[in-house]
Amino acid sequence: MNASPQDILTHTEAGVTTITFNRVDKKNSLTAAMYATLADALDAAAHDAAVRVVVFQGDVAIFSAGNDIGDFLQQPPSTQDAPVFRFLRTIATFPKPVVAAVCGPAVGIGTTMLFHCDLVYAGDNAAFSMPFVNLGLCPEAASSLLVPQMLGYHRAAEALLLGEPFMAEAALEVGLVNRVVPPTECNAIAQAQARKLAAKPLSALIETKRLLKHGQSAAVLERINEEGTSFGRMLREPAAREAFSAFMEKRRPDFSGC
Ligand code: COA
Repeated sequence: MNASPQDILTHTEAGVTTITFNRVDKKNSLTAAMYATLADALDAAAHDAAVRVVVFQGDVAIFSAGNDIGDFLQQPPSTQDAPVFRFLRTIATFPKPVVAAVCGPAVGIGTTMLFHCDLVYAGDNAAFSMPFVNLGLCPEAASSLLVPQMLGYHRAAEALLLGEPFMAEAALEVGLVNRVVPPTECNAIAQAQARKLAAKPLSALIETKRLLKHGQSAAVLERINEEGTSFGRMLREPAAREAFSAFMEKRRPDFSGC
């Protein structure tokens, strides 16, 4: 299962693999095939001695609209081996530094994947949201563990229960992003930071990241699996079916029966 070759672009130069979400007409929403491509690209980068750093980037106006809703309706992930869960485990355990450049909306996994990145640069147009409840779903990517750790419980509950977007400056304040920059400069700044990292000794980068994450890597994987079990079940339940159908039909969802 492979994504259309244009949907995910991968380019390696000077020790940096840059992975670009490039499905702008669909707001860089991610299909199962794209998750498979992403997981494969990360696996390859982990094992390639010439790669020291990975950068994720989107478009200047959109990072990612999260899961492709039509794809989820048609082929909801049914096991932990589904590409979406494989991608999450791969990014959560990726041993080398990961840098993200985020401009425009970062919805759902577009935001939760950032908790597994090491450096995050945001355009001042970045809008982060985790609208899982609004879709009849629950958090993924261990966000139910990592969001409260970073934001504190009440702000995490607001972000995850209400699912409303928060902007780049708020993300900077809570520590989700390192710097807010003009959107047209964001990819270049992330790239420059990645090049700085790539010039450092890889063994020291890997060991430092391992130690930074060590305290909770097992808990993160356990939470990804626990959330994945609930998420997979809830995808098939009436609330999610109604939310997804409403999105596809461009109408407001009716949760009165859910
Ligand atoms: N899945 C599938 N298609 C999506 C999508 C998604 N998550 N997000 C956007 N698209 C598609 C739209 O259906 C539309 O397709 P069309 O041109 O064939 O009608 C196209 O991308 C443009 O989207 P649109 O909503 O018109 O763009 P916008 O600039 O007004 O809004 C967003 C951008 C990201 C705010 C909005 O698209 C959005 O909220 N998307 C859904 C996000 C979401 O709930 N994701 C799931 C998280 S689990």
